[in-house]
Amino acid sequence: MSLRDFLEVLDNEGLLVHVRRPVSTRYEAAAIMKKLDPKPVLFHEVREAPDFKLLGNLCADRRILARALGVSEQNLLKRIVEAMKHPGKGEIVEDPPCQEVMIDDPDLRRLPFLVFGERDGGPYMTAGIVIARDPELGHNASYHRLMLLDERRVAVRILPRHLDEFIRRGVKRVAIAVGNHPAFMLSAAVTWRLGVSELDIAAALAPIRYAKAVTSDILVPADCELVLEGRITDERADEGPFIDITGTYDIVRKERVIEIDCITMRRSPIFQQILPAGSEHRNLMGMPREAAIYAEASKVCDVVDVRLTPGGCNWLHCAISIRKRSDDDPKRVIEAALRAHQSLKHVIVVDDDIDLSNPYDLEWAIATRVQLDRDLVLRPNELGSSLDPSADQVTRRTCKAGLDATIPLTADRSKFIRAKIPGEDEVRIEDYVK
Ligand SMILES: Cc1cc2nc3c(=O)[nH]c(=O)nc-3n(C[C@H](O)[C@H](O)[C@H](O)COP(=O)(O)O)c2cc1C
Repeated sequence: MSLRDFLEVLDNEGLLVHVRRPVSTRYEAAAIMKKLDPKPVLFHEVREAPDFKLLGNLCADRRILARALGVSEQNLLKRIVEAMKHPGKGEIVEDPPCQEVMIDDPDLRRLPFLVFGERDGGPYMTAGIVIARDPELGHNASYHRLMLLDERRVAVRILPRHLDEFIRRGVKRVAIAVGNHPAFMLSAAVTWRLGVSELDIAAALAPIRYAKAVTSDILVPADCELVLEGRITDERADEGPFIDITGTYDIVRKERVIEIDCITMRRSPIFQQILPAGSEHRNLMGMPREAAIYAEASKVCDVVDVRLTPGGCNWLHCAISIRKRSDDDPKRVIEAALRAHQSLKHVIVVDDDIDLSNPYDLEWAIATRVQLDRDLVLRPNELGSSLDPSADQVTRRTCKAGLDATIPLTADRSKFIRAKIPGEDEVRIEDYVK
């Protein structure tokens, strides 16, 4: 299953926007991606990188992600949890499409690295999935934004997660896959147990095939568009500023440098970029965490749905709907959610009559069901997200909070239920207004 197969499906249904007029890598492509968000867009001509088409916003719409995995939107999280708990095995092939063309004297300046915002530290590549292999732990795949330094070198933002652990264990070689099927894109965003490979999680979501990279034993998605093969060096360089998921600028840090040795790609390659803070970025970051919260919270209560809300950057705020059996359930769910997603700052727990995708509904539950002196859980001085400008971004210390916005079990429920007008769902205005 390849990105190209999936683009064909989208195209046949009129869901892919084609931009045939040449666009620039400096602001223009990003501005169009932002204007079209969440519609997928294919740029046929990039002025500064004539060898590539450019794709944006592929996974910006949850319905498109559900489509790619062949499930309903309601079953998306359950499907991801299943794949995390029961990973698969992808077929391994020789002579893969992603190695149709081989470039052993690469010049990264020919690729459509984009300048997204005015304060960007340099041109960036944001949809590169870094794959590394540890002799004992196996493969790891994760996203890392890459800032162009020169024809062979990029600065790579690495948070203290699995890739960092691999590097500490001595891993140096990496392969960076670009232009991937949504199943692989989603899996690479999963943070799960060290030693469970995102390649296997992807294989449980869709029939993804793998092939050995040219300069190492690393497996790469056989049908992806382009692979940069290289090494993590001992050098550090300034990385940033760059727009992060909150839509604010992340600070400059000394980050590691990757040197690229060769590039392999398909003929007529499609490069891919993710708009920082756009729906695709927020979906990919958020959905695997929603799945992890769903799994953890389901251990303590009957969970109906979980949403990292768009207004909370799909990262810092979580809404959880439950079928409450005890008045202690919401507090247990709040604890479980904070355990499952360390960056989470605010959690709100509601009854299952509240639609989590509707911010008005959520606020209505807070307005009509909350007494703060009874329903608020405060957790000061906890380890949180480095992305929240209101927290200490270096020590990551922050104040977390949970809100129980459910109806007390002992209360008279009839006071809390939204009044309905008989026929309001069925009435057809066309029958009355001609
Ligand atoms: C679009 C996108 C961009 C990301 N950028 C970075 C990044 O620049 N650096 C980083 O360390 N993590 C980044 N992440 C988060 C990691 O890729 C993600 O947490 C991943 O699951 C970590 O994998 P691991 O559990 O194998 O460590 C990004 C995630 C997404 C979806």
